Amino acid sequence: MQPPESEDQRRRAITAAVALTANTPQAPQRYERQLLSRYQRGEINIEQVISLLDNSIYQVLYHSQATGTVSEAQLQSLLAEARGFNTRHQLTGILLYSDGRFVQLLEGPEPAVRALYAKIQQDPRHTQVVTVSEGPGPSRRFADWSMGLGRTAGPAAAQALDALLVQENLPAPELAEPYLHALLRAFGVPFEEPAR
Ligand SMILES: Cc1cc2nc3c(=O)[nH]c(=O)nc-3n(C[C@H](O)[C@H](O)[C@H](O)COP(=O)(O)O)c2cc1C
Repeated sequence: MQPPESEDQRRRAITAAVALTANTPQAPQRYERQLLSRYQRGEINIEQVISLLDNSIYQVLYHSQATGTVSEAQLQSLLAEARGFNTRHQLTGILLYSDGRFVQLLEGPEPAVRALYAKIQQDPRHTQVVTVSEGPGPSRRFADWSMGLGRTAGPAAAQALDALLVQENLPAPELAEPYLHALLRAFGVPFEEPAR
């Protein structure tokens, strides 16, 4: 069978598949819908969709202190650097920056996440890197093979950040979820509760 080639054929295939799962627990979640849209637009092929839907996801959540002040330009160049690498290694996640603090969630295949985190921990652009949680995660929740960037210094973000900053080495990634969710909400980052 030939793979669907045109955008219209891909759209029809997705519509049919989504209709089959409507109102069932298999109905696609937000990030899965984003993946399907990327497939429909021809940005990724079906093998990449399947590999990103793989549930064996490892995740690391950490916070750190920036060394010196971080300008918008420095943040953008960090993101550009990360984006290319992460895309090639099926890493997704989010990088948040506020008032000299970084919070990053990395998700992807375990070896890739571990190798990158080892490099990040040595990066002189930040210090006091504290692991909040690390381990097999419930499921991938960011569709992009890149890092998003949230940046805000509002009181809600400060409060959510303070709550996270006292967390360290939680025994399971699930325990970090409430802190992460509060932070994502405060930063206005759209996300969906992972399927269990
Ligand atoms: C807060 C922070 C987050 C980072 N996140 C990533 C990332 O998601 N992906 C990435 O490739 N590099 C990231 N980096 C950069 C890495 O630490 C490192 O500079 C990069 O992987 C290049 O390393 P190399 O020159 O040894 O290959 C981050 C750095 C900092 C300070």
